[in-house]
Amino acid sequence: MDTNQVLDLVNKLLREKGESSLKDIEQIIFREVWEDHQKSYLEIAIQNNYAERSITQIASQLWLRLSRVFGVEIKKNKLRSVVEEYQRKRRAEKNLNFTSQNSDATFEKTFIEQGHKSFIGYDDNWVGCDDLIKSLKEKIAISKTKIIILWGITGIGKTALAEKLYQELEAQANSNRLLRINFENQDQADFESFSTVADRWLKESNVLVTPEDRQDVGRLRKKLVDYICKNPCLIIIDSLEWILQENQQYGWSEFKDREWVDFLRLFLSQLDCQSHIIITTQHLPEDVSADYDNFWFIQILEGLKSQEQIDLFKKIGIKTQDQAELSYLERLGKVYEGHTLTLKTIAARIKTAYCGNVSAYWQEEGKEEIEKVEKDLESFQGEIKELWKLHSANHNLYHKVCYRLNKTLERLKKYNYYAYLLLCITSTYLRPHSRSDLLEHLTDEGCNEIQKQSAFQALTDEQLIDKYVEDNLVLYRLHNLVRSIAYEHFQRLD
Ligand SMILES: Nc1ncnc2c1ncn2[C@@H]1O[C@H](COP(=O)(O)OP(=O)(O)OP(=O)(O)O)[C@@H](O)[C@H]1O
Ligand SMILES: [Mg+2]
Repeated sequence: MDTNQVLDLVNKLLREKGESSLKDIEQIIFREVWEDHQKSYLEIAIQNNYAERSITQIASQLWLRLSRVFGVEIKKNKLRSVVEEYQRKRRAEKNLNFTSQNSDATFEKTFIEQGHKSFIGYDDNWVGCDDLIKSLKEKIAISKTKIIILWGITGIGKTALAEKLYQELEAQANSNRLLRINFENQDQADFESFSTVADRWLKESNVLVTPEDRQDVGRLRKKLVDYICKNPCLIIIDSLEWILQENQQYGWSEFKDREWVDFLRLFLSQLDCQSHIIITTQHLPEDVSADYDNFWFIQILEGLKSQEQIDLFKKIGIKTQDQAELSYLERLGKVYEGHTLTLKTIAARIKTAYCGNVSAYWQEEGKEEIEKVEKDLESFQGEIKELWKLHSANHNLYHKVCYRLNKTLERLKKYNYYAYLLLCITSTYLRPHSRSDLLEHLTDEGCNEIQKQSAFQALTDEQLIDKYVEDNLVLYRLHNLVRSIAYEHFQRLD
């Protein structure tokens, strides 16, 4: 087994034990130690542009985590022996069920084929999106789209869809290598630099990277593009929003490290290349497609449709006893506008805290809040009087949904404070408003025209504000879940 296969095995075991897959930085440590356990943490830190302290701390947590999963104490110098012993035992058990002609190689192949790749979002509870997947696959196969951008608010299902697409494309081609990076949760600013990531991808692909390559980003870029042109890969660039910054002059977003732009442009210009890139992002990036805009496609992701919402509850094991229970689930789905992470969290809550009893959940945690919001939305007038708690109606929602939304709002606050302020103010209105009405508030805050336009642009680029046409007027409204959390932030404004 090569390192990638071992990582797949470990991630599979982690998920079987209910733990999350290894994060990027954990995978780096695992990979380095697996390949050479005598390499010091300092060396690993330097080669991967991390601080030694981060590597040491994360490594010690990682060994504890893996010790729990394998049921044996794992340390840096024991990693290989423990995993190999585990494999040996599994193979022996498996061989009992195999006929004698099944060789180790056959077992290995079967094992890998059964296992998942290092998926973060896609899992067995997947529902729907068939048409969307079909159309994206057609874009790749027929229209020759090379870069797909999945754009939408947090928790809507971008990462899961990227992984699902990978799975489908791999099944078709049977040879796609997955290279990926997730820019969320990186504790080292340098991690986002193109050269660090390119170096890592090349290493993962067993391509030699020399010190000269590392000194010259142009060489590194060419080496990576040459490799992915000759070897069909799917590259998933996840949570791109973290490596974008505001262009002060024009108010749009651009890559902090311009090397990313050069890489994407060079990739787009390769006409004979079978690899593809899927980018997931909450914030729309600058368009780098230049002369190759046919190869660059943006797909907006919205929530699950009504039937998919009910299918998701069913898939998670929630059975409705009567029409009333079905209607509770439909009302939840509608108020949350099909927000995937939220509905999944609620389904899990019904299943675990209420033994699958929808009515009990509804009475205890759904009814009051949903009815309040429905009433507010029906009246559609004036301002919110009372805080909505859609994002924090129970502690599961608080930990899973509110946590992610807060991260988005904190990022926005740092990226463009006036956009954050505008979002908070907009959350106080129930009725959609025109752009000029909303921007009037920023005039009161002393903003100039450029700041106002840039704030509005940032909200649009984050998909935090929806366009709405009524009587030939363009109006803007917030997603219910976004309004719910933004109003809480509004109340905390100085
Ligand atoms: N079609 C689907 N069917 C079932 N579950 C889904 C579907 N799409 C997404 N999910 C689940 O919804 C949750 C949120 O999805 P995901 O993490 O992909 O969101 P995201 O848009 O990438 O969010 P973020 O911007 O915070 O990274 C995950 O638990 C995922 O498994
Ligand atoms: Mg994601």
